[in-house]
Amino acid sequence: MTERRPFVGGNWKMNLDLASSVELAEDITAGLGPLEIECDVVLCPPYPYLQAVGHALKHHCLGLGGQDVSEHSGGAHTGEVAASMLLDLGAQWVIIGHSERRHGLHETDQLVAKKVAHALESGLHVVLCCGETAEERSAERTEEVTTRQITAGLAGIAAEDLSRLVIAYEPVWAIGTGVTPSVEDAEKVHGSLRSLVSRLYDPRFASDLRIIYGGSMKASNAGEFIASPEIDGGLIGGASLKSADFLEICRSIGRILEA
Ligand code: PGA
Repeated sequence: MTERRPFVGGNWKMNLDLASSVELAEDITAGLGPLEIECDVVLCPPYPYLQAVGHALKHHCLGLGGQDVSEHSGGAHTGEVAASMLLDLGAQWVIIGHSERRHGLHETDQLVAKKVAHALESGLHVVLCCGETAEERSAERTEEVTTRQITAGLAGIAAEDLSRLVIAYEPVWAIGTGVTPSVEDAEKVHGSLRSLVSRLYDPRFASDLRIIYGGSMKASNAGEFIASPEIDGGLIGGASLKSADFLEICRSIGRILEA
């Protein structure tokens, strides 16, 4: 890990209920201690629980994020949620382009790009996800696919706005499967994404940009990933639903910061 401020996101997906969401947020805030000052820890509950979870985080520096956002600012878009609504509920962050939306809901690179642009314009911070499928990996297309996804996702984004953006590399085949790439393989992709941002912008913006890993990160492997100078944190799904597991992942960062 480098001097870039570490980032740990909890992507709760479509899990929990109101009471257990609030309980989880309270347990995390109680267990986190001073680490939250040195690290961005952002909880992303389902939309209906954002306000209650935000309330539970009120006196802490933890961040609150949505799991998606509309590309529109408002109007006749049944079922959609606008960036201004997330901000209204106290969220500062939003996850965009998660593989479950790209592959399960057929979100295109172009739609992802519109969402990123609109979210940043509205004042949100963005976690922009990318990652290859198992087939793409076997065909050695990982770099091609992640390059395409991030080039499209950053189209039209001003260099100054990159400080409000984190890239999450999440191989689709690693999400929720218990299988992960080796740290070396993940590092290679992170390195290629950083070079890409350097080419698209300039090396200074690339070296400040946080690139995190996601996909079956858990307490037992987080330390290894996070110790890599290329990996600036994690986006955690399953292991973010239990406070003990999520806190252990956050503490791995604390240990590395202290070392
Ligand atoms: P996982 O999910 O940690 O359960 O693999 C990560 C994600 O989808 O962001």
